[in-house]
Amino acid sequence: MAEKWVRMVTAQTPTNIAVIKYWGKRDETLILPVNDSISVTLDPSHLCTTTTVAVSPTFDQDRMWLNGKEISLSGGRFQSCLREIRARACDVEDKEKGIKIVKKDWDKLHVHMASYNNFPTAAGLASSAAGFACLVFALAKLMNAKEDNGELSAIARQGSGSACRSLFGGFVKWNMGKVEDGSDSRAVQVVDDKHWDDLVIIIAVVSSRQKETSSTTGMRETVETSLLLQHRAKEVVPKRIIKMEEAIKNRDFASFAQLTCADSNQFHAVCLDTSPPIFYMNDTSHRIISCIEKWNCCEGTPQVAYTFDAGPNAVLIAQNRKTAAQLLQKLLFFFPPNSDTDLNSYVIGDKSILKDAGIQEIKDVEALPPPPEIKDASRYKGDVSYFICTRPGRGPVLLSDESHALLNPETGLPK
Ligand code: DP6
Repeated sequence: MAEKWVRMVTAQTPTNIAVIKYWGKRDETLILPVNDSISVTLDPSHLCTTTTVAVSPTFDQDRMWLNGKEISLSGGRFQSCLREIRARACDVEDKEKGIKIVKKDWDKLHVHMASYNNFPTAAGLASSAAGFACLVFALAKLMNAKEDNGELSAIARQGSGSACRSLFGGFVKWNMGKVEDGSDSRAVQVVDDKHWDDLVIIIAVVSSRQKETSSTTGMRETVETSLLLQHRAKEVVPKRIIKMEEAIKNRDFASFAQLTCADSNQFHAVCLDTSPPIFYMNDTSHRIISCIEKWNCCEGTPQVAYTFDAGPNAVLIAQNRKTAAQLLQKLLFFFPPNSDTDLNSYVIGDKSILKDAGIQEIKDVEALPPPPEIKDASRYKGDVSYFICTRPGRGPVLLSDESHALLNPETGLPK
């Protein structure tokens, strides 16, 4: 092969937050869970991964760059995703560029992959979910694989369990499946992102000094030691999944919020029931829970749902813009920015919520009244790093405009 061409595809994939949590595997290699889970996909304009994949006869090995830095592909999870997609590759022809790849060539051809998150990877915001979903989606398009997003979700799952839910927008269910090869352990859309578009999501990125136990290690230890997990997987989650699907379909916020908070709390209880116990939430997380619980209780009906993954960050889901604006006022009262922080970088994403809350400058934050339902009006400056305002969003898309590509179209190396 003396040709010099480079064929490229760029895709963008959202991240997702579980409202019924996945925690525990029954098969570590195939990544098969012990229970179903349900998530909401977040608007990719605020949180997403962009991935460019390229193939060329001039590449001599598979290579990958994450946020501009080359990373190793030796891990089993990358290898599983690459192997599964290659096995489904089909003929590709681009007459304009003089490219012709036949199915069997894909075994010999190497790929370059570059991925970029539009949010800090270190913030602990499920970057692996968006990352593996985007990689699998982009590779499938590059290799002209005919599989639909449900089938691709079963491949992304082998990169990271939660990644399978990022192949769809709106609300998504990951069916745990039954068969041994994992082919029925895949994601399905419950409703699309238009179905419940009043919802507003505010993420509090909580400052933390400690490095948390990774999800993979944490859930392995839970499976090995927690009896509560067995009860959760067998008795609790199956009933909750049915109720949660119903709440989402009926846009029943009260049930949705009750189920979401209860499931987050049970997930953290299962972590505490692990030996040695795992603590993902910190004092700030607990303060946020208490603030929401008191508000919900005082109103008599839930205004906001909270959920926490394997870290201290709070994901807060408000019923509509009005409650989201009130929520932001309460949050900024308790967690004002440090004096040297600019408000513009303290509340990011959909800033119109800040406007709805009547907050334009730091002095508006300083003047906020204490929430009436809370007796202790202490303020905790600096305990939250920043807030992201977002909403439910759509699934993966291809970006056809070459200006979005992360690899150079001539060399196939990072731009
Ligand atoms: C707490 O998908 O990161 O976010 O499958 O080992 O890669 P691996 O784990 P991962 O676990 C996510 C756990 C969670 C809950 C959830 O997203 O459902």
